Amino acid sequence: MEGFPSDFVWGTATAAYQIEGAVDEDGRGPSIWDTFSQTPGKISDGSTGDVADDHYHRYPEDVAIMAGLGMNAYRFSIAWPRIFPTGSGQINPLGLAVYRRLAEACLERGITPYATLYHWDLPQPLEDAGGWLNPDTAERFRDYAAATQQELGDLISHWITLNEPWCSAFLGYATGAHAPGKTVGAEAMQAAHHLLRGHGLAIQAMREGPAGTLGVTLNLSSVRAASDSGPDQEAARRMDGLANRLFLDPVLLGRYPDDVLANAGVTDWFEQRSADLEVIATPIDFIGVNYYTRQTVAGPTDGVFHPPTIIGFEGTQDIRVIDTGAPRTQMNWEIHPDGLIDVIRLVSDRAPELPVYITENGAAYPDEVTADGRVEDEDRRYFFELHLVAARQAIESGLPLRGYFAWSLLDNFEWAFGYSRRFGIVYVDYQTQQRIVKRSGRWFREQLQPGNKRG
Ligand code: FCB
Repeated sequence: MEGFPSDFVWGTATAAYQIEGAVDEDGRGPSIWDTFSQTPGKISDGSTGDVADDHYHRYPEDVAIMAGLGMNAYRFSIAWPRIFPTGSGQINPLGLAVYRRLAEACLERGITPYATLYHWDLPQPLEDAGGWLNPDTAERFRDYAAATQQELGDLISHWITLNEPWCSAFLGYATGAHAPGKTVGAEAMQAAHHLLRGHGLAIQAMREGPAGTLGVTLNLSSVRAASDSGPDQEAARRMDGLANRLFLDPVLLGRYPDDVLANAGVTDWFEQRSADLEVIATPIDFIGVNYYTRQTVAGPTDGVFHPPTIIGFEGTQDIRVIDTGAPRTQMNWEIHPDGLIDVIRLVSDRAPELPVYITENGAAYPDEVTADGRVEDEDRRYFFELHLVAARQAIESGLPLRGYFAWSLLDNFEWAFGYSRRFGIVYVDYQTQQRIVKRSGRWFREQLQPGNKRG
């Protein structure tokens, strides 16, 4: 693509539960997302990931599509309950085999596999034992990560421990919008800590295994105060603290942000675990950043913050997200391409040399298939174009951006929204499982064609 280095990584991203289906095949155990999606009222269209895109069986076709688009990388996730059906114990060879075949299919077509080890599908038995509120889950994750890398490390060299621990901790245990649907208030901060500790333990264990390039993916927000007023600035500090600093600081700097812990009233609990910070800050080779939107925030109308002022916890109403009037996607997420540069800077301010990959970026729009079988998603195409302009600017300004993964390859099960939100650059007809490359996908193909200037 014009203006990008010739060794830039171009890929699409997916997650196991969102696309695989085949939930009962080859010894897979249940995950918290099976349980959650089967619970009435949790998924807006009442659907589950039981079939999804049937990628479990159709991956050869999907890998061929990626290759046809000119992509040189594929970020997928490995389902923990396929490898260890109950979360620990005996490895399930059939569960491993499908990822071996998938990785081989990618490599045959010049596509480098990037495997995420945890994209939210915790084995249900581990949740029954407390899930991410139980410190032992971090050790179970370490064991699963190390065993999986040991088995697949000959084919897969790029590994991402966690996808978006913010979502696992706060949507899973505070708002309850995601599995396991718990609402434990500020205790969700403990889940965040155990997730981060699991990440660090996994990196340490994987360093002992086959050579690999190891990292973690965080969802970062471009946060802006609505005005210079004290309460609005304070709201921005709190929002940035929870969304960004709570994760970036321990992973990259080996410390938690004191103000965030104090606002949540959890300083003592975290102080007792300060020795874990060394584990959490175990050096990584790259960081993945998922970027979707900007949040412009304001303080409470009366100017007074009522503790604890934490997203998804009691008191969150103190932080108001303002509608700036900028265009939004179907998720109601504001479109702000320059925020992509902001979030890379959040990383480089702390770790200037650390390679950054945008591991997700994309947009939901309601797609329609034309009478002659095309999907003309100009809105989505334009979204990608604007964000790639920003990505190029980031590189030109010297930021260490090394790759970009579009979310997503395929329309898929969008968590609590079920199949009512389409993010794919490839359309999926859920009745027939037919794939149609959308205009956005065709645009990537044009940009990435070998004939096009790539350097
Ligand atoms: C991210 C998730 C991904 C997908 C996109 C839209 O938060 O990592 O699975 O749902 O949002």
